[in-house]
Amino acid sequence: MDIEKVNSMDFGEFVDVFGNVIERCPLIAAAVWSQRPFSNLEDLEKHFFAFIDALPQSGQEGILRCHPDLAGRELQRGTLTAESQREQRSAGLTSLGADERLRLAELNAQYRARFGFPFVLAARLSDPAAVRRELARRLHRPPAQELRTALGEVKKIGHLRLADLLGAHSARR
Ligand code: GUN
Repeated sequence: MDIEKVNSMDFGEFVDVFGNVIERCPLIAAAVWSQRPFSNLEDLEKHFFAFIDALPQSGQEGILRCHPDLAGRELQRGTLTAESQREQRSAGLTSLGADERLRLAELNAQYRARFGFPFVLAARLSDPAAVRRELARRLHRPPAQELRTALGEVKKIGHLRLADLLGAHSARR
């Protein structure tokens, strides 16, 4: 899909296509649509990220809370979004043994209890051992620093999803 096609989309089509660039936050795509035309993928992405950066802390935490746990209940129940399902599968999180799943569930619960939002990581760039390591490491950080890191991960996920939609190759890690 090229940028001319993106700029020609009406509101409904734009939200259908880009509504899950930020997990379960179609409102962001709805707001970004008003800022067209976009000059290229980077420009489009800039508008998504600027919206996130302009939110008060409560809104930024709200975005994090829209994310499902990695290897969590929604994966077991099959209720993930298509994008999250694909990312968790590519990280090897759909084929964990029971012990490993339990260990991650414990860490996810500790993280949520400490920060009040779920652990978010660009899963597609990771694997089960790295997810566990990152979770254990980030669990002990100061909350303000962790909020910044988690929003950075939301942006990495959004970057990869946008690059998929526009057929661009992504060099960012
Ligand atoms: N990384 C990539 N997708 C997701 C997701 O849906 N949830 C979390 N927690 N991390 C992700």
